[in-house]
Amino acid sequence: MKRNEMQDHPKVKSSIRGTKMVITIDGPAGAGKSTVAKELAKRLQFTYLDTGAMYRALTLKALREKEELIQEERLVKLAQRTVIDFKMDPKGALRVYLDGQDVSEDIRSLEVTNNTFYIARAAGVRAIMVDWQRRIGKKNNVVVEGRDAGTVIFPEAPTKFYLDADFEVRSQRRIKELQAAGKTVDENTLKSELKERDHKDMSRAVGPLKKAEGAIVIDSTDSSVQDVVEKILGILKDNGYLK
Ligand code: DC
Repeated sequence: MKRNEMQDHPKVKSSIRGTKMVITIDGPAGAGKSTVAKELAKRLQFTYLDTGAMYRALTLKALREKEELIQEERLVKLAQRTVIDFKMDPKGALRVYLDGQDVSEDIRSLEVTNNTFYIARAAGVRAIMVDWQRRIGKKNNVVVEGRDAGTVIFPEAPTKFYLDADFEVRSQRRIKELQAAGKTVDENTLKSELKERDHKDMSRAVGPLKKAEGAIVIDSTDSSVQDVVEKILGILKDNGYLK
């Protein structure tokens, strides 16, 4: 194997290869979780599980079906008749399917982003989501990213991370992302929406965003994605999970 191939795909130790390995990455919006989790999964050849995409997909369905977002029982019924799938496209990008339809772009709309909290605060819906997520984790080595990955979905995961960054940096990252997607952004509006989302994520009664017990906190304020990924790989190696 060439040197750069070895660097690209660090090997999981044979002693733990028989069991499925779960790496959780939680943190607030804009902390860089998605990019880091995706890159880490690629390097380790693990499945990447974007739990936020599941909440977004169900929100999209609720909006399309003009469902009463304040009625939890209706949202639970909606979740029960929904199938959310992930597939990798030939370029290695994650595609999200809602009842068989590719909704990868639609779930990133502002309308979906600002309405996800209705779905995210519904305990009955969360229970269904967590069940789906655990099933994926049972079958695959996974890098799971979200808000409750290390606290609720996989509290037993041996390797948990909490990725954070300064509010200003998180806001600027979101602005750049949206602009790159060709959207016009008003900085003040974005900042107040992000603040509101942080508050809702951290204060909901079920599955709130918080650092899981034993999670290693990484601040990405001054670090690139590559730096954070290397740091995580280093920690996994130091803890005996990688060769
Ligand atoms: O990571 P994201 O921005 O795509 O997540 C969208 C929303 O979904 C987020 O504001 C809160 C919710 N969410 C959640 O409640 N639990 C998760 N594990 C992941 C996301």
